[in-house]
Amino acid sequence: MKRLFKILGYTFAVLVLLIGAALAFLYFKGIPTYPYEPGPEISALKVEPDSTRVARGAKIATLLCNECHKDNATGRLTGRGMPDIPAVFGKVHSLNITNDRDHGIGAWTDGELYYFLRTGIHKDERWSPPFMPKFPLMADEDLYSVIAWLRSDDPLLAADSREYPPNEFNLFMKFLCNIAMFPPPVPEQAITIPDTTDKVAFGRYVANGLCACYACHSADFAKQDPIHPEKSLGFYGGGNPMLNLDGELVPTANITMDKETGIGTWTIEQFRDATKYGKNPKGGPLHYPMFPHTTLTDTEVDAIWAYLQTVPPLKNAVARYKPAN
Ligand code: HEC
Ligand code: HEC
Repeated sequence: MKRLFKILGYTFAVLVLLIGAALAFLYFKGIPTYPYEPGPEISALKVEPDSTRVARGAKIATLLCNECHKDNATGRLTGRGMPDIPAVFGKVHSLNITNDRDHGIGAWTDGELYYFLRTGIHKDERWSPPFMPKFPLMADEDLYSVIAWLRSDDPLLAADSREYPPNEFNLFMKFLCNIAMFPPPVPEQAITIPDTTDKVAFGRYVANGLCACYACHSADFAKQDPIHPEKSLGFYGGGNPMLNLDGELVPTANITMDKETGIGTWTIEQFRDATKYGKNPKGGPLHYPMFPHTTLTDTEVDAIWAYLQTVPPLKNAVARYKPAN
């Protein structure tokens, strides 16, 4: 008996040591770096900043960037604290992406922006963890539009010297970034925007490739496939435990066509109102982090609707957020 306890005791001690060593290793290793390898074509990229691109980029930014990078105090994309990121991941803020050459991204080349927005890898090989989304499925032309807009004289981007210190991520995030989350590859072939006459293909692009609605609306950020979104756990079935700016839990909605737990009984008008204006057909607003996608056209929203009809319905009753009062 005594011997057994001794063996158990040793085994336990060895386990504790091993776990301690693994944690210490992660702590010092931190978020992995990745080689900066844009290749000659991306390195030489020069995006012609014509007015069509700048306008399209501004529209895309209201869907994809401003929500996180805009500080209401400065009225510009100077970055902000992100209280909606669960504390278990560390204290995170978005960064200054105004045209300031020293404190923003004014000195980045078009190629550096392209490579970063696709993969999250900086020129100095640092990798931005998943709080900064990556856009591996966005059409090249749309990505060029975002870059053209980032270079424009939009007042949101006017140079500002405010600067946050680099983010420090905690052990849990370091752990995830070493075992489960990696930079997506740069697409090998050009990605084009499907023709609007093919509603389902166009809707799939707007939903998955451009807006990444699936990212919030599937089960779990850590169990997603950014290259093949359809393979994400609980694809469009909702329940992803997100937080609002007060740190309260706001699970995402099931937007598959399941008639009981999804939106299978909705009309297209209700869907448009919810997606574009954040209106809940049961009355009142939909809550943050769902935000009104006002710059989507009806053609785009209707195409998302057509695409969602083709997504397998999932039975998943989500316990929805109810404000206290
Ligand atoms: C969900 C929030 C979120 C969204 C949406 C978002 N960002 Fe970010 N962004 C971040 C965070 C957080 C960081 C800091 C990452 C880090 O510490 O490495 C960041 C970093 C960046 C950087 C690097 C800045 C630097 O100095 O290192 C650029 C450039 C950038 N974002 C551009 C964009 C653009 C363009 C869009 C839209 C197409 C966008 N971001 C959308 C949160 C976001
Ligand atoms: C940043 C995360 C996020 C993104 C991106 C997002 N949503 Fe949402 N969405 C939510 C959350 C959270 C809710 C639930 C809000 C609530 O309960 O009030 C929601 C609710 C909805 C609803 C209401 C469903 C219901 O049953 O009430 C619809 C429809 C919807 N989203 C469509 C979309 C579409 C289409 C897109 C892409 C264009 C999208 N969402 C992108 C987080 C997101």
